Amino acid sequence: MSSYDATRGNPHFLDRVMSLAEHEAVVASEDIYSESGIKLLAKGKPLSPVLRERLLLQRLRRPLEACLAPAQGVAATDIGQIAHELIESWPILAPLCLDEGRPWPLSWLAQVPVNQVTALLLSVSARAGAGVLRHAVLVTLVALGLARRMQASPEVMRTLAIAGLLHDVGELYVAPEVLSSRADLSLDDWRALAVHPLTGAKVIEGIAGLGAPVALAVLQHHERHDGTGYPRRLAGAAMSPAAKILATAEAMAGLIPGPEESSLRASVAFKVITSDHAPAVVAAVRSVLNEMSDAPDVEMTPLEAVVEIHRLIAYIGDVFMVIELAGERLATPGAQALLGDIEARFTELHRAFSRTGLGGVTAGYEVSWLDYESPDEGVAEVAAVAREIRWRLRELARDIALRASSLADDERTVFSTLIGTLTRRR
Ligand SMILES: [Fe+2]
Ligand SMILES: [Fe+2]
Repeated sequence: MSSYDATRGNPHFLDRVMSLAEHEAVVASEDIYSESGIKLLAKGKPLSPVLRERLLLQRLRRPLEACLAPAQGVAATDIGQIAHELIESWPILAPLCLDEGRPWPLSWLAQVPVNQVTALLLSVSARAGAGVLRHAVLVTLVALGLARRMQASPEVMRTLAIAGLLHDVGELYVAPEVLSSRADLSLDDWRALAVHPLTGAKVIEGIAGLGAPVALAVLQHHERHDGTGYPRRLAGAAMSPAAKILATAEAMAGLIPGPEESSLRASVAFKVITSDHAPAVVAAVRSVLNEMSDAPDVEMTPLEAVVEIHRLIAYIGDVFMVIELAGERLATPGAQALLGDIEARFTELHRAFSRTGLGGVTAGYEVSWLDYESPDEGVAEVAAVAREIRWRLRELARDIALRASSLADDERTVFSTLIGTLTRRR
């Protein structure tokens, strides 16, 4: 994996700083020098497009993140405003973040140390795309909410408040086309994306000076309790307490329903597989879901739901077939071990699907909705299960991409086919 180099400007990060500079002045907070001592930009001077190439061509004496400052920048009050709006409009955030109607996480957010580097990172995030900063705030709120239920220490709460906001800053260093085409990534794209926790941790600890616990939580926010995460495939015991909560909060933020949906999606998600999150955090998630009143959201007709179940069953059959065919084409022990691991995880996913009761549907296009209180509830569950299974397959595809990247070309091709099948939209 290519690693972050603080003496080299990263073109994607710089481009994003440039687009921030189109909206508010971004000035040098100190003289910016090349490593060989050439002054590239004087203190107080604004960043301009002509400077882009100069900053990228030279090695720099100090990292760019430490030498550039937005004129206004995102402040703690802006974060508080976004948090307030989210808590008011997202139903699942009520049991997580309201205490007798009081949005208590706001006081933790107000204490977040917004220094020059974090102000730059948050401002660039806010400009980086619709919802980037909102995602960061959402993850922070979920993480704080879960941590409080787990009676986490004030230290863990403080760590989560800042690590949550900055957990994806490493993505600011990834090419925008990789971030925007997440459904259809090549092996190289996956590698570029998978490096973002490492980049984020380096920037946070080395440049923003936020301390090891924050950097560690950011580094580990895509690790999984069962060791299937990235970038290090750490098992739960090796993850920091804040990282365990942040990892679950990050996953939940991708699954939890927005203002218009019920909590069914999240509850199904956690029914399908929980082994990849720490048991204590999963218990906190369950306690939140149990508190939510839940009217099912119906997004398909009963007939569409039946078609969807059959489609999923056919899809699962296809994946098993591709795995079997792949087995015949792999020679090296490393590739065979990887395939064995994939097969085991896919089989576990298939079992989880069967446990929902939907995987057992066989011939004929009939499903009895009698197991549900109403057809609406059954249909909503089908929609949620389908979404969740596809999400899980995408995660599996990501893991394969990372692990297959060290194999020889012909074996990589076999795994590319498997990834193609797993990430097929229909
Ligand atoms: Fe994230
Ligand atoms: Fe991330």
